[in-house]
Amino acid sequence: MNNNVTDKIVVITGASSGLGAEAARHLAGLGGTVVLGARREDRIKTLADSILAKGGKALAIETDVTDRASVQKLVDTAVKTYGRIDVLLNNAGVMPLSPLEKLRVDEWDLMIDVNIKGVLYGIAAALPHMKAQKSGHIINVSSVAGHRVLENSAVYSATKFAVRALSEGLRGEVKPYNMRTTVISPGAVQSELLNGIHDEATAEQLQKFVPNIAIGADSFARCVAFAINQPEDVDINEILFRPTRQQI
Ligand SMILES: NC(=O)c1ccc[n+]([C@@H]2O[C@H](COP(=O)([O-])OP(=O)(O)OC[C@H]3O[C@@H](n4cnc5c(N)ncnc54)[C@H](OP(=O)(O)O)[C@@H]3O)[C@@H](O)[C@H]2O)c1
Repeated sequence: MNNNVTDKIVVITGASSGLGAEAARHLAGLGGTVVLGARREDRIKTLADSILAKGGKALAIETDVTDRASVQKLVDTAVKTYGRIDVLLNNAGVMPLSPLEKLRVDEWDLMIDVNIKGVLYGIAAALPHMKAQKSGHIINVSSVAGHRVLENSAVYSATKFAVRALSEGLRGEVKPYNMRTTVISPGAVQSELLNGIHDEATAEQLQKFVPNIAIGADSFARCVAFAINQPEDVDINEILFRPTRQQI
């Protein structure tokens, strides 16, 4: 295989389902070594086993991105095992949407902890290694909701706007270290994300239309591979994509 994914060490958070799991399969198929992090260890172990069975390279490490030490362990284990980290895909995220007036404050906290602090903990864990290597690529996952505030998505959108701000700040700071930074903002993609909406009216409303327009997670996996696969002097900073049939 001759591409710029082959032989790269790629750490992926939120690799147990949806976009992260599909990116892992795709990158492993292109010859990358994938290090899978998520809380559902059974899922990431099964995924790692299926990649290994196909001749790919994968390692599963139980990870909770709300725990800084856990994210550090994920990244440090990748470096200890393979000698380096080439890509961090900061993908773990939750989306318990609801109107602000419902005051589901625990869910606001959760979105801030996973979607913002989880991304920051990933950056904190990977940056020192990438600085020392003088190479590396951090890919953060935002959303169309990080570009516009949709109904009942005030807090989720706030976290995804934050991911874009962090990504742009990071981009400017890491140039001396020869690092690349990408933020990917997907539209509706098939995954388990809607299962995390516990406000009944919001869940019902979204279940009515999202599954009808959502596209496969392979769409996201190809975007990730596209960004990584560029020659090292090409830095793809932003990708925003939607299903062709998605209007908002
Ligand atoms: N699907 C879409 O339409 C869409 C659109 C725009 C953006 N996104 C973004 O895409 C990313 C992936 O979501 P998805 O759609 O693939 O949803 P998903 O199927 O629900 O996957 C979410 C992933 O995040 C992980 N996660 C959640 N909390 C975590 C924690 N505390 N520690 C570690 N991992 C955690 C989950 O793993 P465990 O539960 O096993 O820990 C799971 O692997 C998210 O950032 C989401 O906001 C998705």
